[in-house]
Amino acid sequence: MMDWTDSPCRVLHRCLTARTLLYTEMVTAEAVLHGDRARLLGFEAMEHPVALQLGGADPARLAEAARIVADFGYDEINLNVGCPSDRVQSGRFGACLMREPRLVADCVAAMRAAVSLPVTVKCRIGVDEQEPEAALPALIDACAGAGVTTFAVHARKAWLEGLSPKENREVPPLDYPLVYRLKRARPHLTILINGGIETLDQAESHLAHVDGVMLGRAAYQNPAMLAQIDTRFFGGAPADLDRAVARYCEFVARRLAEGARLHPLIKPMLGLYNGRPGARQFRRHLSEHAVREGAGIAVLDEALAMVASRARAA
Ligand SMILES: Cc1cc2nc3c(=O)[nH]c(=O)nc-3n(C[C@H](O)[C@H](O)[C@H](O)COP(=O)(O)O)c2cc1C
Repeated sequence: MMDWTDSPCRVLHRCLTARTLLYTEMVTAEAVLHGDRARLLGFEAMEHPVALQLGGADPARLAEAARIVADFGYDEINLNVGCPSDRVQSGRFGACLMREPRLVADCVAAMRAAVSLPVTVKCRIGVDEQEPEAALPALIDACAGAGVTTFAVHARKAWLEGLSPKENREVPPLDYPLVYRLKRARPHLTILINGGIETLDQAESHLAHVDGVMLGRAAYQNPAMLAQIDTRFFGGAPADLDRAVARYCEFVARRLAEGARLHPLIKPMLGLYNGRPGARQFRRHLSEHAVREGAGIAVLDEALAMVASRARAA
């Protein structure tokens, strides 16, 4: 997710769950080809497994970008066919590609020919006046014909005329049953469902119908929830929140020593204690002090001490 799932955010999430697949922000193929690759694509070894999401609509450019991404060591490359922003539409990619299944198939075919990594697709169920019952299978079948086997479906349309990107994540109605039917009709494909899933109970009920659940906003609004995933869905060891935070703090200290600023490192932590005593003080202390010039690990230690003392008092 743009402006959220940067490398520090993914490191925090990985401290909370060893087994989930993490995704980067969308990076356009042109940025990969012409931009500062170390900044755009660099990631920490502990983030694995991690998928890089590409945006683009030119098969040759996407293939070239995919090669570069593969060399960085990512585990999967995901193509964005869901972003509704104007900037993306003017580049004729993102959600507006729902109208061009053939072109998307050419894109993923070129990417697959360029790399040995899995190439997956994230899409909507349709755009504007499209009939999702036809538009979604058309996109999926075109990509499946080009060899893609895994799809993450944001179960609502994007309305490209008149809605902001934020409204496009809230206003068009969710249609989960359509995604369930897609899976039933194509059992050989791996279908992940996305959109409006806020709790692990909800995630579990979707798993009766599809192969996986993709969490968006809930993952950064309530990251502590991620600590339950390994035990609940993968039969793994439960993550201890304090231990996960201590591990993340070690990462923060290392990045600070390498010259990073504190604020981008604490941003993914802001929602960590939501719903627990001391959450507000924790957030306020970090928001006020971490932006200051030269802010160091002490700011984080102070904020954590506030939560610990409220927990002891409770
Ligand atoms: C701030 C923000 C940035 C996002 N950036 C991306 C992105 O880069 N690529 C993408 O496929 N979806 C992006 N999305 C959409 C989410 O991946 C997801 O499809 C959407 O928020 C619905 O799922 P949710 O209800 O679980 O959040 C973004 C969403 C938000 C809120």
